[in-house]
Amino acid sequence: MKCDFKKLTLEEKIAFLTGADAWRTSSANGKFHQVFMSDGPNGLRMQNDDGSTKISTAMPTLSLVAQTWDKELAYLDGETIANDCIENGADILLAPGVNIKRTPLNGRNFEYLSEDPYLAGVMAREYIKGVQSKGVGTSLKHYCGNNREMHRFTQTSEIDERALNELYLRPFEIALEAEPWTVMCAYNPVNGVFASENRQLLYDILRKKFGYKGLVVSDWGAVHSPYKAVRATLDLCMPCDERYAENLKMALEKGYITEEDIDFCVGNILNLIEKTKNAKKKINYTKGDRHANALKIAKGGMVLLKNEDGILPLKDGGQYLVAGGLSKEPILGGGGSAFVQTDYKQTPLAHLLKDKLPKAEVEYSGEPCRSRGDCNRVDVQGAKKSYIKAFGKDAVIIIVGDAHESESYDRVSIKLDPEYVTAIKAMARVNENVVVLLNAGSAVDVSEWIDDVKALLLVGYAGEAANEATASVLTGETNPSGKLTETFPIKLEDTFTGSETGDGFSEWYNDGVFVGYRYYERYGIDVMFPFGYGLSYSEFRYDNLKVEKKGYCDFIVSYDITNISEKDGAEISQVYVRDVFAMVVRPEKELKGFEKTYLKAGETKRVSVDLDFRSFAYYSTAYSKWHVENGLFEILVGSASDDIRLSLCVDIELPDDTQQSQY
Ligand code: BGC
Repeated sequence: MKCDFKKLTLEEKIAFLTGADAWRTSSANGKFHQVFMSDGPNGLRMQNDDGSTKISTAMPTLSLVAQTWDKELAYLDGETIANDCIENGADILLAPGVNIKRTPLNGRNFEYLSEDPYLAGVMAREYIKGVQSKGVGTSLKHYCGNNREMHRFTQTSEIDERALNELYLRPFEIALEAEPWTVMCAYNPVNGVFASENRQLLYDILRKKFGYKGLVVSDWGAVHSPYKAVRATLDLCMPCDERYAENLKMALEKGYITEEDIDFCVGNILNLIEKTKNAKKKINYTKGDRHANALKIAKGGMVLLKNEDGILPLKDGGQYLVAGGLSKEPILGGGGSAFVQTDYKQTPLAHLLKDKLPKAEVEYSGEPCRSRGDCNRVDVQGAKKSYIKAFGKDAVIIIVGDAHESESYDRVSIKLDPEYVTAIKAMARVNENVVVLLNAGSAVDVSEWIDDVKALLLVGYAGEAANEATASVLTGETNPSGKLTETFPIKLEDTFTGSETGDGFSEWYNDGVFVGYRYYERYGIDVMFPFGYGLSYSEFRYDNLKVEKKGYCDFIVSYDITNISEKDGAEISQVYVRDVFAMVVRPEKELKGFEKTYLKAGETKRVSVDLDFRSFAYYSTAYSKWHVENGLFEILVGSASDDIRLSLCVDIELPDDTQQSQY
């Protein structure tokens, strides 16, 4: 698109480079449409003039959306949020976030998708397509290396070239296939240079190597020096930064930047203005539909982590106790810029269970944990009453939650508050059928109490349809089908980073490419629940793996999945690739494809997944590009990273001139 620079004075051009206010771009004295941006990613978060938050649909958090492993649901999520954006006049949704979950302590993990770059990238790509299909732009964030909140404004993420390419840039690279209208740079420095002035990241990699044609916006307040940001091709600084005019004029005079540098950024801003002005925005969901979509996604993303003796689904005619105030008001999402304000009133879980199980007796007790993060430390008598009610019931359902997940700070522990642990254990002493519901957006250490309970359902931060989705899964109306997108370690000390947070200046990512399951598998560290794991009320069988060669590195992997139970369900099958012998250290295996397949009881479907060059490549620092080494690769098809059901070997033989000499 051609933009007419002639209409603009230098002052007007400079004014475009920073916001007119907290959320809008400049109008150049009323001549241009002002682009209005708003948060993301778990629903629309828009501020009213008085600082309060507008009401919108609280969708499940991205952590839960990812747990669906369902590309269509990620698209639906994006589309639904776009409807709220259109209704409230937002041109750009500041989402999705694709930063790798490198440590479970990261306070923003609930906003992110996975510890695996492929999964995070694919789900984000579909979400972006969904939002933008409605004429609303997105902002792919936080580019890059923003993997904890602690020291996020100052601490360098020091990442070697290979890990940067294979893990931290990769989800961005994949998500860019959906052509997000904007990309947001991170607060933190990467390898010693602030992301906002890191020309290697913004220009050499994002624009040249990845071919990105859109606009780069700063995270809010991430620009330290206006001219250094312009020099790095950061187009737009948000929010309004009063220093821009003076600083850029000084830099022009001194020759630090040229007018062409400014024009480059202004060109991108004008393109975005045109795009948003001409976008065909179309609302296609009523408020009711949006809630129904939130419910559909929430149902698809809850993960059943333990289910001993088939305690779930709950049977009609049983006697149940629902304990804990969170069953009336579950935690819908995390805090900070991703907080969404809904006006949807939760129906208490006990009521919903009663509706779905008409012959059952369902009692509610507010004790021992009355509300978010506040188990009853004072009312010992109340707590006792609750334990007495639990006695003799067919099951006790207790909901516990991590109330410490938010932007701006990290968790200090991945254990539940001790009061919750006491409550779970006390319940388990009076009733052997305890079912725990876990409200969390990242991994939790469950090791102290997991053996005391019969079932554990990760309800996550499920948004405004939380209780309906939970009741549906508990009663078997919905067959659980979510799987973990991050490993649950046994304890924090088992993670590579442990409780280390960096010193405020730099954090050395000396785990290299071994993050998440790549780390636990390499060092043989036992975990509580592995990556890709999740139970169903159904059972699935895998058969007939076939790998068809279509080109040097192009293969079609196909296999049958059969639902061998009497219940309809869905199975997420995962395709991993293992380099059998490599000249560089490589992870034991890496996820390169996945599919969620809905199967009626007894039904068989053939699933097919494409593999290409990137499925076999590692980032070679010797060649400065992705490289596939000839030889054998194992194709592993499984139900979880630790549950491989089928495997086959393929031999890759690329032309000799692409390979190093053999010895
Ligand atoms: C967050 C961004 C967010 C922005 C605007 C920043 O603090 O890091 O994710 O989009 O604020 O609210």
